[in-house]
Amino acid sequence: MERPDSFILVIFGASGDLTKRKLIPALFALYKQNLLPDRFAVLGVSRSDLSDTAFRERMTEGIKLYCEKQPEEKILNSFCKNIYYQPLDASNGSEYTKLKTRLFQIDAELKTHGNYIYYLSTSPNLFPAITESLGKQNLEKEGNGSSWKRIIIEKPFGHGLESAKELNTALLKIFYEKQIYRIDHYLGKETVQNILAFRFANGIFEPLWNRNYVNHIEVTASEHIGVEDRGEYYDNYGALRDMVQNHLLQIVGIIAMEPPSFFDATAVRNETVKVFQSLRPIKPEEVGKYAVRGQYTKSTIRGEKVPGYRNEQRVAPDSRTETFAALKLYIDNWRWGDVPFYIRTGKRLPTRETEVVIHFKKTPHHLFTQNNICDVSCNELIIRIQPDEGILLKFGMKMPGAGFQIKDVNMNFHYSDLGDAYIPEAYERLLLDCILGDATLYARTDAVEACWRYVDPILMAWRERPDIKIYGYPAGTWGPKEAHELFDNPEEDWRYPCKNLATDGEFCEL
Ligand code: BG6
Repeated sequence: MERPDSFILVIFGASGDLTKRKLIPALFALYKQNLLPDRFAVLGVSRSDLSDTAFRERMTEGIKLYCEKQPEEKILNSFCKNIYYQPLDASNGSEYTKLKTRLFQIDAELKTHGNYIYYLSTSPNLFPAITESLGKQNLEKEGNGSSWKRIIIEKPFGHGLESAKELNTALLKIFYEKQIYRIDHYLGKETVQNILAFRFANGIFEPLWNRNYVNHIEVTASEHIGVEDRGEYYDNYGALRDMVQNHLLQIVGIIAMEPPSFFDATAVRNETVKVFQSLRPIKPEEVGKYAVRGQYTKSTIRGEKVPGYRNEQRVAPDSRTETFAALKLYIDNWRWGDVPFYIRTGKRLPTRETEVVIHFKKTPHHLFTQNNICDVSCNELIIRIQPDEGILLKFGMKMPGAGFQIKDVNMNFHYSDLGDAYIPEAYERLLLDCILGDATLYARTDAVEACWRYVDPILMAWRERPDIKIYGYPAGTWGPKEAHELFDNPEEDWRYPCKNLATDGEFCEL
């Protein structure tokens, strides 16, 4: 494993939840695995007036709460010594001299050689101001190969195509594209990366991976939680912006891409961007045919009363924001011409599950027909991204005994069968990649814009055409039944994964 250069990670918005919940625990996990260099520092930056000690205490709490295993005190203390804090109003350009002085001071003390990563985890409206202020202090300048500067941008990357373009322009005024890392934590998930390995490290699946053998593909990301305390953000974004434009389309990109010629950031991202550019645009008048939106209503789940979306905190009482979105999309290229991709996501669905299902075509000739009922297996390959990470292949087998009755059986692989295999958190992988300067699993400008270009007409139609219904669905169910109508063939339907994820066709509650 390549040993990374010394560095300082500057986190803007450091008093927010993400730092404590994800970023610091991820760095700590890297530290424990000896994947960080000997000399590194984290400089938390935000408006709150905190000392280094107070900030360290908060981060220690975060590590104890959110790391899988309780940390050893000795390791925890030696890690936390690398954490610093600088109070700063990120919107005020004149305060950045303070930041520069502090950064240079830590750099001189620790000898981190001017390698800095700026992590923007603030409200997105601050992204342009922060970038500009860093530029005014020359904090983006790399020293002729002797040092590097990188910037990580958290989602949401824009609110639509126009704002994403504006943000890209603002970033590219100061930083080069190769310095910009747009994070999509789904790409950091081990199981999403495994799709690449599954497709391109095996010879047996790729020949089937196209319109000749695949009938349709499903991608589901269901969550059983509601909007929790994020009502204000969510009501302004909704499921399409929050999950589809980024996470779900990135999964589609990996499932549908051509094999890259190399495994590097340029080659891999060149291939995924071609998929996004090939998404068949949805005409505004066809939105109703290709997209279904829903919003959860109050219900009782296992005896517990659950509020409807409109009764959640900081959500407008007449909100028309979707908490469920399902789409039928097509990728207009040689590999996927006319193969429908059905994708859906929602909050307050029965279970937390993210999976991809490849539905293969039926056999062209049905040999095993009994009483005029044709017995044929529908082969499905199910890639379970979370929580029960694994891969399941369904195929037909002869039932023992007389005749030829065919039954679907499962060949099931669980990551947990690998024994002690450690599955790193998405942020762990992504932070390490950025420290190493590998942007393969980060989204590029053209990809982000292509995804917005696809999603924008749907957002516009939903905003401007009140005749396009938003369906209510009781919390704890699989979303509006109208999502079924997206299927070309009425005999087809979504897979309804239950707690026992190898079984389907059943509705369930957690
Ligand atoms: C985030 C969304 O990007 O992804 C959240 O903003 C969502 O609304 C989350 O809950 C889902 O991530 P994961 O890793 O739990 O599937």
